[in-house]
Amino acid sequence: TVFDCSVIDVSKVHNEAGNITVAENMKNIPFEVKRVYYLYDIPGGEARGGHAHYELEQYIIAASGSFDVILSDGQNRKIVTLNRPNFALHVVPGLWRELDNFSSGSVCLVLASLKYDESDYIRDYDEFLKIKK
Ligand code: TYD
Repeated sequence: TVFDCSVIDVSKVHNEAGNITVAENMKNIPFEVKRVYYLYDIPGGEARGGHAHYELEQYIIAASGSFDVILSDGQNRKIVTLNRPNFALHVVPGLWRELDNFSSGSVCLVLASLKYDESDYIRDYDEFLKIKK
């Protein structure tokens, strides 16, 4: 359910020359990262996501700027605002997600547990609700 998704403090090494955040497989990420991608140059007012995954889990990070992640398990909804680069939202499998309210210049960094596989996607919301029943 959406209650299995939490915001995790990834790490932060701070000094006068700036910060560095490190995410390491099986250390502060509870799965093995097989793929990294990032969304950027997102036009104002645009929404992304709008799908669910059967198996994939993810860490979603606002590497720059801010945005909202709306999660749904078919019964419960949860809206999480991400706005700090050292925090990650852990999205477990089987949830519908949408991303919106991107601030200008924001970068959405995603660490994913699987390689890209279109057959792992549920892109139709009615179908998602059917599967969840
Ligand atoms: P999609 O997952 O629908 O984007 P979002 O959920 O962020 O709105 O992906 C958009 C397009 O990019 C789609 O044609 C598939 C392609 N894509 C890849 O080829 N590999 C990937 O790892 C990802 C995430 C997307």
